[in-house]
Amino acid sequence: MIDIHCHILSDLDDGAGDMRESVEMARIAFEDGIRHIVATPHFTLAYRNTAARVQRKVRELQQELDRQGIAVTIHPGNEVRLESKAFIYDQAKSDQFSYLDPAQNYVLLEQRWSDFNPETLEVVKWFLRRNTRPIVPHPERHVFFRRQPELVEQLIQAGMWTQVTADSLNGNNGEEVRRFAEWLLANDYVHVLATDAHNVRRKPNLSSGYDAVRKLAGNRRAEQIMERTQRILFPKS
Ligand SMILES: [Fe+2]
Repeated sequence: MIDIHCHILSDLDDGAGDMRESVEMARIAFEDGIRHIVATPHFTLAYRNTAARVQRKVRELQQELDRQGIAVTIHPGNEVRLESKAFIYDQAKSDQFSYLDPAQNYVLLEQRWSDFNPETLEVVKWFLRRNTRPIVPHPERHVFFRRQPELVEQLIQAGMWTQVTADSLNGNNGEEVRRFAEWLLANDYVHVLATDAHNVRRKPNLSSGYDAVRKLAGNRRAEQIMERTQRILFPKS
């Protein structure tokens, strides 16, 4: 399996506390069946985890995993917050953040927690014109999406994808979040599954998410989600 959303790099944001915890998270991920992880430290006004910094941390962690014989490959990425339209355009034009893939075909584009950014549709269309598909992480965890599902429907119709978090489907984020994740799944609005793991407690447990998808929507749907995730990192495979 591939995890496209994981705060596995240490000392960059609210993710892994140190190299030891990063390695432990990789070990948990490996045992869960994960072989590729896109490291997605926050890229926000408060956390400017630039592409150069992420690259360096990915190299350091990969060396340590190789040394310890943990067969997980780490790829550079970011969870980019849509602070404002201007923030995104400025930072993109000067190549400050990392996409999910080297070809820049996908970007993890997070909403603010406080309120829905009304510029989102415009920003989604801007990325799509540049051949980048924005993926919104964990819409089910945002109260404004739960209250107004039409907001997320409109964005999906425009071409945005969603990334639902495994912990939401298995109930670790509460009942209300689980119900909305299930509603997204029932409407075939779940494009990608990921862990959004932050440490060894909020850990990389992707298989439980796929188990929930199989149970609620069938094997075929779980396969579709896996294939879609595979194509993000390995477009030609
Ligand atoms: Fe995250």
